[in-house]
Amino acid sequence: MEFRPKGVPWKALPDTARIGPGGLEVGGVSLVELAGEFGTPLFVLCEETFRSRLRRYLAAFGEGNVFYAAKAFICRSTAALVAEEGAGMDVVSAGELATALAAGFPAARILLHGNNKSAQELAAGADAGVGAVVVDAWQDIERLEELGSARGRRLPVLVRVAPGVEADTHSYVNTGKEGSKFGFPLAEGMAMEAVGRVLSSPHLELLGLHAHIGSQILSLEPYSRLVEVMLSLAEETAAALGWSPPILDYGGGLGIPYTGEEDVPSIEELAAVLKGGTAAEAGRRGLPEPRVAVEPGRSVVGNAMVTVYTVGVVKRVAGGRRYAAVDGGMSENIRPMLYGARYTALVAERPEQAEEEFHVAGRHCESGDVLVDGVLLPRDLSPGEHLVTPATGAYGYSMASNYNRVPRPAVVSVAGGRARVVVRRETVEDLLRLDAPAGVGGGWKW
Ligand code: LLP
Repeated sequence: MEFRPKGVPWKALPDTARIGPGGLEVGGVSLVELAGEFGTPLFVLCEETFRSRLRRYLAAFGEGNVFYAAKAFICRSTAALVAEEGAGMDVVSAGELATALAAGFPAARILLHGNNKSAQELAAGADAGVGAVVVDAWQDIERLEELGSARGRRLPVLVRVAPGVEADTHSYVNTGKEGSKFGFPLAEGMAMEAVGRVLSSPHLELLGLHAHIGSQILSLEPYSRLVEVMLSLAEETAAALGWSPPILDYGGGLGIPYTGEEDVPSIEELAAVLKGGTAAEAGRRGLPEPRVAVEPGRSVVGNAMVTVYTVGVVKRVAGGRRYAAVDGGMSENIRPMLYGARYTALVAERPEQAEEEFHVAGRHCESGDVLVDGVLLPRDLSPGEHLVTPATGAYGYSMASNYNRVPRPAVVSVAGGRARVVVRRETVEDLLRLDAPAGVGGGWKW
């Protein structure tokens, strides 16, 4: 076993994180050097961690049953990597679909999701030949029927069910609960009706059912309940319609460690509950055993990335509170402000030094722009040093904005001691390019 000093949040960091002569390294590359070469804030993606999580999912669920959720993070090279590993992809917009296709991702391995897909998005999916569209509303069914009829072929679909299973997570990401905007509710027989409707359509082919109960789920118990609910629905569809689902897609949701202190079920434990539970429940009800699919996002890419910042201002305010202000904030990581998500931070140059409490503030014009609300950092932390926040791979870059007209960071992929830019840093010129040209004449005096 290699020596891993205590006090460093190893569980939250990429698998390749090490302490080298220049401080923290990922993928064999020093984060301080990366910051020097590519600037900050910088997202650093560890290819090995990303691949290893995907491989574990593929090993546990079987090829053809793992659809990486692009919304967590996607760019062309990540799409290519997912394709290379043999996984599928879950996309929710024309933009995500186009990114996958631009990378040469095989359309047949794509699932098209969304609670309000436009007619154009559905047509783009149908024309690309996606593996399935996950229907979420009656309009999806109607529009797909038109598309299938016009193209003279049956379009493959999954029906998304709102299973009414509550996962113990933030209410904003608790998608499976009753009253959710997603899917056809079990209540009032709506899911059954949707299944019946698709089955009777000459233009659609029903491959199975889908459900997603939420995100950053830290207990397997809601998944067991989900399995029961879905198999009980399968029993009803078998009895009423003579159809039981060949595929059950249980969505994503597995939580990850952010601060290194969380206890998180493993991918293999999740597979045991979903696959084992499905086989057992199907057997008990005398149903054929469905194929079990999943759509992990966060648990693939979350711990595969870190963000590197430069410390600009270090200040002590009245009352003794100390702030370390970095050159990013809510524009590239909105999660602390939106969900109360807790992160940790360490200094790239001296990752083991944790002495005094700091609040890591962003650079945006809002007092709520605090990335880490209390973390131990070196007492003499200085401007110019680099702060690293682990576990920023999921819903970080993908939810980034240009608030305060701050350009979005670059994403650099590291592996085997080499780094390459996979998303270039945005510039102010990029932002200005979208504006209609305008100028104000005349002198304006202060
Ligand atoms: N499948 C469906 C249908 C989903 O809606 C989602 C996430 C996933 C799969 C992937 O879930 P994951 O494995 O990543 O938990 N922005 C929020 C998370 C929103 C999740 C939305 N749906 C956050 O930053 O926590």
